[in-house]
Amino acid sequence: MPAKQAMVVVRPATVDDVDLLHRFSIDLATYEDEPDAVTSTPQTLARDGFGADPKFAALIAERGGVPVGFALYTFNYSVWTAARGIFIEDIWVVPEERRGGVARALMAALARECAAKGFKRIDLNVLDWNPARGFYERIGFRWIRSWLPYRLSGEALAALAASSSPATSSSKDP
Ligand SMILES: CC(C)(COP(=O)(O)OP(=O)(O)OC[C@H]1O[C@@H](n2cnc3c(N)ncnc32)[C@H](O)[C@@H]1OP(=O)(O)O)[C@@H](O)C(=O)NCCC(=O)NCCS
Repeated sequence: MPAKQAMVVVRPATVDDVDLLHRFSIDLATYEDEPDAVTSTPQTLARDGFGADPKFAALIAERGGVPVGFALYTFNYSVWTAARGIFIEDIWVVPEERRGGVARALMAALARECAAKGFKRIDLNVLDWNPARGFYERIGFRWIRSWLPYRLSGEALAALAASSSPATSSSKDP
């Protein structure tokens, strides 16, 4: 185990970290009772995060040079605020390092990225039973009670796409 007294260092993930990112993502999914939910692979992470048009970014937290946590995030845009923001997909600290300031260091790095780039928000979803809610509230996040997450995917998405409707021209973007 890394020495507790060593400082936490947060750095951007690189393509050399894809195995670690993949393992941490599976650890988080397992903790969230969805061990089979991760269908990405180190190869898809390399392709989608570290190519010419990255779809996500990630930070790695290390103590004494040993990875102890990560945050993986995407970027969004609000027409209301005319500004981009960060959406946190994953944040995870290894169990033996919890309550040692690792996640706060990751979040502070994301807050600094927002300040540097003019982003106005950091958003995330959290399962209702997850004690991580206490962490979020401790560092200043607020639960937006009036909004509920909705998703269209799988068969319902395919069925809507296949349903008859007036002809539309679609965007060139994927
Ligand atoms: C949630 C999690 C990321 C927090 O990481 P951490 O490194 O232990 O958090 P920190 O030590 O930086 O905590 C910062 C502050 O939040 C508090 N805090 C941390 N976890 C907390 C919890 N479960 N409940 C209440 N407060 C908490 C800390 O005591 C600390 O308070 P302080 O400012 O008074 O010292 C970590 O517990 C974890 O990896 N959990 C499992 C994965 C998970 O649930 N991820 C979120 C998915 S949505």
